[in-house]
Amino acid sequence: MMTSQKADFPADSTADSPANSKTDSTNYPLLNRQLAALLDTRDWLTNSAQLCAFLFQQVPALNWAGLYLQREEALLCLGPFQGKPACHPIPFSQGVCGAAARERQTQRVDDVNALASHIACDADSRSELVVPIVHHDTLWGVLDLDSPEPGRFDADDQAGIEALVDTFMTATDLPPLLD
Ligand code: SME
Repeated sequence: MMTSQKADFPADSTADSPANSKTDSTNYPLLNRQLAALLDTRDWLTNSAQLCAFLFQQVPALNWAGLYLQREEALLCLGPFQGKPACHPIPFSQGVCGAAARERQTQRVDDVNALASHIACDADSRSELVVPIVHHDTLWGVLDLDSPEPGRFDADDQAGIEALVDTFMTATDLPPLLD
């Protein structure tokens, strides 16, 4: 349990604010073990906040990491996040987040400026990865990652982030959010 100690992060990996460039491939299996150790409450709000902070700190070259939650039918409400204040709400019919929610498929966009449907919350964002979170056949929410680097997310990043979302879901009691 982690009531009084930090997860076993590599030395100085949490000392600075977010890493600012994608270098070599990220060690997602290591991040997954660290995340599993971090999420020890089963509380959805605490774990959601921890997930976003962890990703923002540990995944290089992000300028935003957050959750949008389906708290109303076909509408995404801004949830816990790290980064600049963001767009709210987002209908399922709009944006990369809306596409992930609607299609229940991960959306990976190399150049958001080339995508007419992209919602530009921050003009600095150049690429985006959005992973749907489906629980009991209901779209619970989406995890949205933005980067100032074009083409920041490759297939390995997608698989790694999807695995981290699986760990979050396994570690968390996800309540029904719709009325
Ligand atoms: N770009 C997203 C909107 C959310 S922000 O990036 C935080 C979209 O097109 O859905």
